[in-house]
Amino acid sequence: MSTQAVCEKCGGTGWIIVERASVSGAEPCACRAQGRAERLEERSQIPPLYRNASFENFKTEGVRDLKSVMSDVKAYADTFPVGPYPGLLLIGEPGTGKTHLAVAALRRIMQKGFEGVFTDFQTLLDRIRAGYDASSNSSNKEAYRMALDSEVLLLDDLGAHRVTDWVQDTVTSIVTQRCNNRKPLIATTNLPDADVEGSKTTQKTAVGVEYRRTLRDHIGDRARSRLFEMCNVIRMPNIDDYRIRRGKWF
Ligand SMILES: Nc1ncnc2c1ncn2[C@@H]1O[C@H](COP(=O)(O)OP(=O)(O)O)[C@@H](O)[C@H]1O
Ligand SMILES: [Mg+2]
Ligand SMILES: [Zn+2]
Repeated sequence: MSTQAVCEKCGGTGWIIVERASVSGAEPCACRAQGRAERLEERSQIPPLYRNASFENFKTEGVRDLKSVMSDVKAYADTFPVGPYPGLLLIGEPGTGKTHLAVAALRRIMQKGFEGVFTDFQTLLDRIRAGYDASSNSSNKEAYRMALDSEVLLLDDLGAHRVTDWVQDTVTSIVTQRCNNRKPLIATTNLPDADVEGSKTTQKTAVGVEYRRTLRDHIGDRARSRLFEMCNVIRMPNIDDYRIRRGKWF
């Protein structure tokens, strides 16, 4: 049961009676759009930790690069679906706020009435794999279709635990099919990429400089290049994990 108050304008019917030149008719009430946005949020599978993530509660802490990243993501969501790129890729180190901003964008897009679905990449792979099993439940069987069909898909944390041909083929097929059908994709990744300025593909260790596995190593060249074609690629600034920053600064 909804605990929400009944709309005062239409009494909860969703319609407003209007009289014009002594003819009365019914017009849809504005509360319908609000109701739709709420239903979309309920179905979006955004995890509880991020359910309230928004641009309003994203703290830029006076860091210029963080401000500019937030305003780019906001611009993407505000101009959706007519911006220069249908998709968005947020790339950067863990704890820099990628998932928070991706969810904020998805929620704003849902406010406009588009259907959005959140899925963690590894979980999606596990569910698709489980779906091949005859005894598996139907939600696992539908996982792949959902990834292809949902109007806007948020693919969180691209990059699998174990990279196999199957993983690369699956992600390639999702990205390519969405791309071909002009279905927007919002993705985040902790993996570095050599073509993204400021992305760290090497790291210093006790024994010298070490190569880090990149986005290309994980998802393959084809999926990566389709992703770059369809997405506004935004690199997060190289700042500490938010949880550490918060400990330091507050
Ligand atoms: N700038 C920020 N302002 C407010 N909360 C933040 C900010 N950056 C990160 N967080 C919060 O810190 C946690 C980790 O951020 P998250 O978006 O998951 O990082 P990432 O996806 O880059 O690893 C989340 O709970 C998120 O809401
Ligand atoms: Mg994340
Ligand atoms: Zn109403």
